[in-house]
Amino acid sequence: MKEEIEKLMEQVRNLACANAKDVEEARVRLLGKKGEITKLFDEFRTFSPELKREFGKKINELKQAATAKIEALKEQTASTAVSDGPKEDLSMPGTPVPLGSRHPVSIVRQQIVDIFRKFGYDVAEGPEIEDDYHVFEALNFPPNHPARDMQDTFFVSAGHLNPLLLRTHTSSVQVRAMETMKLPIRVICPGRVFRNEAISARAHCIFHQVEGLYIDENVTFADLKQAILLFAREMFGPETAIRMRPSYFPFTEPSSEVDVSCNICHGKGCNICKGTGWLEIMGCGMVDPNVLEASGIDSKKYSGFAFGMGLERIAMLKWQVNDLRHYFENDLRFLSQFKTAIEV
Ligand code: DAH
Repeated sequence: MKEEIEKLMEQVRNLACANAKDVEEARVRLLGKKGEITKLFDEFRTFSPELKREFGKKINELKQAATAKIEALKEQTASTAVSDGPKEDLSMPGTPVPLGSRHPVSIVRQQIVDIFRKFGYDVAEGPEIEDDYHVFEALNFPPNHPARDMQDTFFVSAGHLNPLLLRTHTSSVQVRAMETMKLPIRVICPGRVFRNEAISARAHCIFHQVEGLYIDENVTFADLKQAILLFAREMFGPETAIRMRPSYFPFTEPSSEVDVSCNICHGKGCNICKGTGWLEIMGCGMVDPNVLEASGIDSKKYSGFAFGMGLERIAMLKWQVNDLRHYFENDLRFLSQFKTAIEV
């Protein structure tokens, strides 16, 4: 009995509880109906009067010590009584994760893709590292055309018959489309292009284009004009007018440059349109029969139109970006301005 009391006394002294639940468990273990101290008392009751005298004081001290300790621990852990549940207020609003924004060039690309998808065009992509054949030869570039020159083109392998190079325009994808797709073809080709230009506010060695191609029987210049007009109105607003100026590209005949009415000054003349009331947005034309034949399409039966536009230029006109370099520098002060433009 003596050792028993001492052992339990030691336990009571060292008792430590982290929370109210632990305190209650300790109380039941020591002082509960079947608790260890209660059991001692049961045994004590059977003792002879001499033994009772011997142990009475000690066993009572143990009980008091245990009761006091449990009371003290109860108080101590009262503040952590709720610690079984969540410690934080789960109804508080969370820390917001800052939302990124889309790059202006990809916003414009998506808009153009969406517009032409509505017109029934497919989307096609081609390789950025192309061969001379798809970038120039099949597009009717004469062998000594200046665009093939080292000054304009980044060559990956020079000197071969059909050197590899970084494509200088996405018109190369229209060749791949004509080679592989079934007629009639209605396709747009967004992508990155490369030119060996000194970097400045007005020129860059990397930029983006969207190429368009439509080939079927009896496609005329009137179809081209209507497609471009509908596109321009979707892109720049329903009041937009277009103007076509004669131009030259090796792969189209006739060729034309397209202007849209200035959506800043509405034709009155401002510094964006340099006082003309018009903004140049793309080149286009009727696909040259040589280009159709080079890809195995019968130019007597089929005709088509093509167009190509620069995405940085369109984004520049839409948001009055005054320096091409902004697009490639990843400066958040520039990029975060297009946050709201995601919903456009
Ligand atoms: N490839 C031309 C360029 O990079 C753009 C272009 C003009 C594409 C006229 C066309 C077109 O398809 O018909 O400047």
